Amino acid sequence: MLSYVIEGNNKIEGEIKASGSKNAALPIIATAILNPEPVTFYNIPNIEDTRITLKILKLLGCKIEIDSGKITISSKEMTSKTIPKDLMHKLRSTVVLAGAILGRFKEATFSYPGGCNIGKRPIDLHLKAFKDLGAQIEEKGDYIHCRAKKELQGAKIKLDFPSVGATENIILASIYCKGVTHILNAAKEPEIQDLAKCLNKMGARVYGAGTSRITICGVKKLHKTDYKIMTDRIEAGTLLCAAAITNGKIKIENTNPEHLLNVLYKLKEMGCEITITNNSITLKAPKVLKAVNIETTPYPGFPTDLQPIIGAVLTKAQGKSIIKENIFENRFKYALDLKKMGADINFNDEENSIEIIGENFLRGKVVSSADLRGGAALVLAGLYAKGTTIVENAEYILRGYENLEEKLKKLGAKIKIEKVV
Ligand code: UD1
Repeated sequence: MLSYVIEGNNKIEGEIKASGSKNAALPIIATAILNPEPVTFYNIPNIEDTRITLKILKLLGCKIEIDSGKITISSKEMTSKTIPKDLMHKLRSTVVLAGAILGRFKEATFSYPGGCNIGKRPIDLHLKAFKDLGAQIEEKGDYIHCRAKKELQGAKIKLDFPSVGATENIILASIYCKGVTHILNAAKEPEIQDLAKCLNKMGARVYGAGTSRITICGVKKLHKTDYKIMTDRIEAGTLLCAAAITNGKIKIENTNPEHLLNVLYKLKEMGCEITITNNSITLKAPKVLKAVNIETTPYPGFPTDLQPIIGAVLTKAQGKSIIKENIFENRFKYALDLKKMGADINFNDEENSIEIIGENFLRGKVVSSADLRGGAALVLAGLYAKGTTIVENAEYILRGYENLEEKLKKLGAKIKIEKVV
């Protein structure tokens, strides 16, 4: 087991570049399965989630070359259409590989994905959409077999909820469809726009990404291309919050402020001074943070992935803050550990919300990550707390943040990773 060991009460100050986006990288890597021509990607973050995804592609028969920040994938000789169960279980986004395999070969075999335990996370919307496109679905043992008798056929697919993964999966599965596919109530997240941009650069015809209606006109083939993926807005938000909780000042140099408007608005309401340019965000924390209420909603609303992160910051804000989580049903485990560190937090299970009463002075304790973003929230709490904080199960955090330890150290944190046997 790995643990972060943090000596708290140090300001986060300085300038930093955000890494490539985890949530954009995973579906974009899947486009390499659809396209038999070689594709080169830049800015793929070197994190456990992308390493596992690339490992699956290798097992499926793809050739992968990694060379200082650039990854070239050729799926020309890909033979297997089955995603191995053990790797599928390691993360949630492996599910989008199924849409890409189905789109390319008209059949795919996979199992239920794993990932952070933050709620039920079913894949019913994905499977229903595959059926709408003409695939037959059979569940046998641990595996789901998905096969279209002839070609996949464009369809009008209305999502009951604007699921990010289902929207990505439908786009990937529809690229070679006969006819036109319409996704209604599609997710509008920037990562979906990045996926569409990448596919269109290869010759696909995906229109309307970023709106709730996406149209995909089937094409016969894709061509060789290269693509630089967007930077990680959740990582940028995490680093901004690290400065906010430690009374610091930070400039994130290569980020798109548009992607974080709702978060910046809340940080401003808390008293932070925010300055933006086209591609940078600067945050200066006030001496005293103010309490705010937050409700997570699909993009462009407040992102659920930053809910635990802002939760940590709100322990330092004066007054009563209420956070309501609307996307996942089990995303407050981190708050139990914040309580252990001295935060005053009440849970309202019926409303899926918490009430944080501040300002609390946190003390370093031994706490444990239960999931990726919850773990990062505890690291932030450790940066602020007096004394030493040990965040166990750092593996969760390493899944989604590239070089977090080095980045925070560069910004003034006293943090290291230790192996515990
Ligand atoms: C993606 C992100 C994750 C983020 C989430 C919401 C990636 C790799 N992960 O996850 O970081 O927190 O979007 O912004 O991009 N649902 C169903 N049935 C389905 C699919 C989803 O009921 O078939 C429900 C889920 O249980 C959840 C909600 O819809 O309550 C949102 O899930 P979804 O948008 O699909 O999230 P992910 O794609 O898993």
